[in-house]
Amino acid sequence: MADLQSLDTIVSLAKKRGFIFQSSEIYGGLGAVYDYGPLGVELKQNIRREWWNAMTRKHDNIEGIDAAILMHPRVWEASGHVSSFNDPMIDDKQSKMRYRADMLIEDHIRRLQSKGKTDDAKRVQELLDTSGTRKSLTEDLYDIIIGEEIHSPDSGAFDWTEVRQFNLMFKTQFGSTSTGDNNDVVYLRPETAQGIFVNFLNVLNTSRQAVPFGIAQIGKAFRNEIVARQFVFRMREFEQMEMQYFVNPESDVENYHRWREERLNWHLSLGVREENLRMADHPKDKLAHYAKMAVDVQYHFPIGWQEVEGIHDRTNFDLSRHQEYSGKKLEYFDPKTQQRYVPFVIETSIGLDRCTLMVLCDSYREEEVAGDKEGSSETRTVLKLHPKLAPITAGIFPLVKKPELQDLANKLVHQLNDDYKVQYDEKGSIGKRYRRMDEAGTPFCITVDFEGLADQTVTLRDRDSMEQIRVSIDKIDQAIRDKAKNWKPE
Ligand code: GAP
Repeated sequence: MADLQSLDTIVSLAKKRGFIFQSSEIYGGLGAVYDYGPLGVELKQNIRREWWNAMTRKHDNIEGIDAAILMHPRVWEASGHVSSFNDPMIDDKQSKMRYRADMLIEDHIRRLQSKGKTDDAKRVQELLDTSGTRKSLTEDLYDIIIGEEIHSPDSGAFDWTEVRQFNLMFKTQFGSTSTGDNNDVVYLRPETAQGIFVNFLNVLNTSRQAVPFGIAQIGKAFRNEIVARQFVFRMREFEQMEMQYFVNPESDVENYHRWREERLNWHLSLGVREENLRMADHPKDKLAHYAKMAVDVQYHFPIGWQEVEGIHDRTNFDLSRHQEYSGKKLEYFDPKTQQRYVPFVIETSIGLDRCTLMVLCDSYREEEVAGDKEGSSETRTVLKLHPKLAPITAGIFPLVKKPELQDLANKLVHQLNDDYKVQYDEKGSIGKRYRRMDEAGTPFCITVDFEGLADQTVTLRDRDSMEQIRVSIDKIDQAIRDKAKNWKPE
């Protein structure tokens, strides 16, 4: 049994089976923008539902909202995105490729380490860590790249432009009387969180909640990412699932630790294997300007350990800034303790697309199994998805194309499709139909045969063990429910 070796394998399976396509493909595609196909949209929807239920239904002090993508431009001044949501970029003049300056230097440090030049690696790391203290940040990064003679990774050239700050927010014009000047500029939100902060009072005043309480939201976010070459891991249009938990400033630490644990458990509840998940604390000197403490939930992708979710203690940074920029008080008065304060916020923020990629990667297996012919073997590709996430829960097949079997199979489709996404399939051999369902991650296949016509039974095939059991038709719903409930990752 082999796990996933390369992200390319998932990219081609995703395209071949209709999980994920490149946007506007017939026009040559649009960089780092993707569309979800029939299987992908179901998978994504199931993950979205799991998150929403875990965060809102299972917590009676968390409310949901759905804020607009376009917000008042002052929001992004208050949040700091206008002034500092930048990446320092440098262009290779020969290939015209653009790179993140700090990442070029980090790659150079890794190369020095792998060559055993630890003193040099340490020296450059120190230069990188203190960038912005000698001249400006961009000038210091440029000096390191030139001083260390870092060559372009793709062309090998040493012909760089200056380092420039590149803001990642997409701008658009607002209203039909747009004059093209900066007065009508609005941004496509780069995170959903700010829609929550600006609605803090609205939710507090209308929902009868009291601190501590949370606001959850799922929605699109947009970032003009420069280095976006890793499929749906880094996209320009993506979906976030964020929750801001408003707490008394004296209880932020305990709530931060509680949410770390809850969020890791949620990832495990999706069936992601424990050995592929880890928590990576942000070192104090690498914390975002608004954060007191932060940790990433990381997954071991074929491209290495990478962040899937971030949990931050954002202090009262955002509410205080919105209070300052809007002139509206965003305080909370606690009637029990008679305290008045601007609440602290514990944020949990996960990318739905990145989470979908994690689930696809973790479920991917190639297995040697018996072939159709006696004594032969073949490789099956199977997605061992948790049944609650699988795009199709059950494939329903008549053994052969005979009306009495087709009728019963169709009857089963109607019996199950209120509760599950099921798919009828009568094309090809049973073996081929199983393989198609394995690749789609379908946990159960139900086959109607002549034996079953007589005693009203069908065979239920388990995707992971490939075992088949005979189940009476009126017990099939229960059998699927029990198997799905008891499913464990292997
Ligand atoms: N409100 C906090 C925030 O936005 P972030 O670390 O920038 O924090 C949170 O983003 C999550 O959103 C990340 O952990 C990742 O899963 C997802 N994400 C961020 N940028 C992304 C991108 N360009 N493409 C896909 N997902 C992205």
